Amino acid sequence: MILVIGGTGTVGSALLPRLVDRRVPVTALVRTGPAEPIAGVRYVVGDAGEPAALHAALTGVDQVFLAMGNGPRQRELELGVVEAAARAGVQHLVKLSAPVADTVAVARLHQEVERAVVAAELEHTFLRPYAFQQNLLRLAPMIGHTGMFTGTTGHHPLNMVDARDVADVAAVALTSRRTRGQALVLTGPEAISYPQVADLLTALGRPTRYLDLPPDRMRQELDHMGQPSWLVEHLLEIQALTRTHRETPTPAVRAVTGHEPRRLVDFLGEHLHAFTTPEVVSSAVSSAND
Ligand SMILES: NC(=O)c1ccc[n+]([C@@H]2O[C@H](COP(=O)([O-])OP(=O)(O)OC[C@H]3O[C@@H](n4cnc5c(N)ncnc54)[C@H](OP(=O)(O)O)[C@@H]3O)[C@@H](O)[C@H]2O)c1
Repeated sequence: MILVIGGTGTVGSALLPRLVDRRVPVTALVRTGPAEPIAGVRYVVGDAGEPAALHAALTGVDQVFLAMGNGPRQRELELGVVEAAARAGVQHLVKLSAPVADTVAVARLHQEVERAVVAAELEHTFLRPYAFQQNLLRLAPMIGHTGMFTGTTGHHPLNMVDARDVADVAAVALTSRRTRGQALVLTGPEAISYPQVADLLTALGRPTRYLDLPPDRMRQELDHMGQPSWLVEHLLEIQALTRTHRETPTPAVRAVTGHEPRRLVDFLGEHLHAFTTPEVVSSAVSSAND
């Protein structure tokens, strides 16, 4: 039995149907019962911070997929899951992590959890994807309304990866022994800058401009949008990292799944309506994992 924690998230919601298709028994720990449950998935409703819910979810489980949303409780929640999984005798934990980057607080947190997994002597696969292509859907309302978006990455390319490729890798990791003990840095087929994203959207028929801002101005914009301070700092940290560390694609998605990673231009084409009509953005986000 595989326990998926984060099954409603960008990667987790793409992973669940992949595991069902492979006919492996799967449990999902979810905080809210799903409106449209996936046939073949056993749901346990509860918070990963509740020992009783975690205990119920881990019963009879030999592998765990852990994808925890970023936030102030993430460290405590993930360390709690690692400890409970080790206590429950779980044999393999696949952790959605992030590339190593000492200047990014969330990346340091992932490193701390990875070390805890190793210290607990849990067999593991660490998935370290760069930013998901799906994150661009968060910019869709701004682009839909104004035809432009902002950032602080200048012309530096980003290694964006489609979350469905991360789910494909996770599905292999959970249904074979091939990735065990590995830390896999997951990227798309090519690194692409924000000005190039604007050019791609324009070429696809949605005229778009990218406006590069100094970090302090970007912080003001994000504060003004009402983003929590931890998220503002996280976004600024990862964009600063893009300016100082060149992002280079890796062969990991192809090596594990046997298929090429999905291209950003195809992702944008698939979701072009979201960048054009603000009203349909939320439905586009939910269909991003189909
Ligand atoms: N987004 C990226 O570009 C990116 C890139 C590299 C690495 N990562 C890493 O990937 C991980 C997931 O990020 P994401 O952006 O994909 O998140 P996401 O789509 O928002 O998914 C987060 C999941 O965590 C679940 N969750 C949050 N708190 C929980 C709790 N207390 N108990 C049980 N479940 C809980 C959420 O469930 P609910 O539906 O109940 O909220 C949701 O299913 C993060 O650790 C992030 O650092 C993300």
